[in-house]
Amino acid sequence: MSQCMIDYQAPDDLLKGRVILVTGAGDGIGRTAAIQYARYGATVILLGRTISKLEKVYDEIEAAGGPQPAIFPLNFEGATLKDYHDMVEALNKEFGRLDGILHNASLLGTITPFEQYAPELWDQVMQVNINGPVWMTQALLPLLARSEDASLIFTSSSVGRKGRAYWGAYSVSKFATEGFMEVLAEEMEHLGSLRVNTLNPGATRTSMRASAYPAEDPMTLRTAEDIMPTYLWLMGPDSKGHNGKKFDAQPPRT
Ligand SMILES: NC(=O)c1ccc[n+]([C@@H]2O[C@H](COP(=O)([O-])OP(=O)(O)OC[C@H]3O[C@@H](n4cnc5c(N)ncnc54)[C@H](OP(=O)(O)O)[C@@H]3O)[C@@H](O)[C@H]2O)c1
Repeated sequence: MSQCMIDYQAPDDLLKGRVILVTGAGDGIGRTAAIQYARYGATVILLGRTISKLEKVYDEIEAAGGPQPAIFPLNFEGATLKDYHDMVEALNKEFGRLDGILHNASLLGTITPFEQYAPELWDQVMQVNINGPVWMTQALLPLLARSEDASLIFTSSSVGRKGRAYWGAYSVSKFATEGFMEVLAEEMEHLGSLRVNTLNPGATRTSMRASAYPAEDPMTLRTAEDIMPTYLWLMGPDSKGHNGKKFDAQPPRT
């Protein structure tokens, strides 16, 4: 059964002193999460493919007086193992450890009958949504293991928990994300200091949601800000002891 912490109230120093990587930090939910994590004291590493968007988030965090963030430009589509290892080297040099990753970057691909799904697009979605994040995680595990209390959050979706017609590679990539989380959570259990969970944001007012549901009135949806309590709870120490679980950032819509 999944769980939701939408009423959680984070203390101001929740993430003080923590170093947290957010993927897809330039837009949508990742952007808001990066800003919120910094607001609660974290040094945030902003990873994404569009530098100008990351720079805007950087400026916003600095203007709000948050800890100085870092920008790490990376496109999961073309990234190689070498890129991930270079990243580990850079983070190791700068911070020496990592206290959390919000795996948030994703591609929707297209919503279409499977008979018409283009193989190139299928591969692209699997690359960005699961393969890239998997190999990046493998590279970063030694840095996460150096943290006294680290949280690894993988972003899921309701179509990653129950398949839905026409959602193709996106849905399958989110099922893979759920499966990978379970495998890794069991393997990391012995550390006692690294928890691995999935989080389904639920319907949220972003450009991805608008392209999936073009006829929907976005004003009927919760914003990324509205769903942040669960993002904060799961990244911070109050979720210690929760490992291998599936969370929802908002209750199901009625
Ligand atoms: N919004 C919803 O209703 C909803 C519901 C369920 C699950 N989710 C999940 O929540 C997460 C965030 O979604 P969102 O709605 O905030 O989407 P979004 O507004 O489209 O933002 C996605 C972010 O991922 C980045 N990204 C995409 N491809 C990338 C690549 N190849 N390499 C690096 N970064 C890449 C984007 O970068 P650019 O800014 O450069 O495009 C963007 O910053 C996703 O995992 C999504 O599957 C969302």
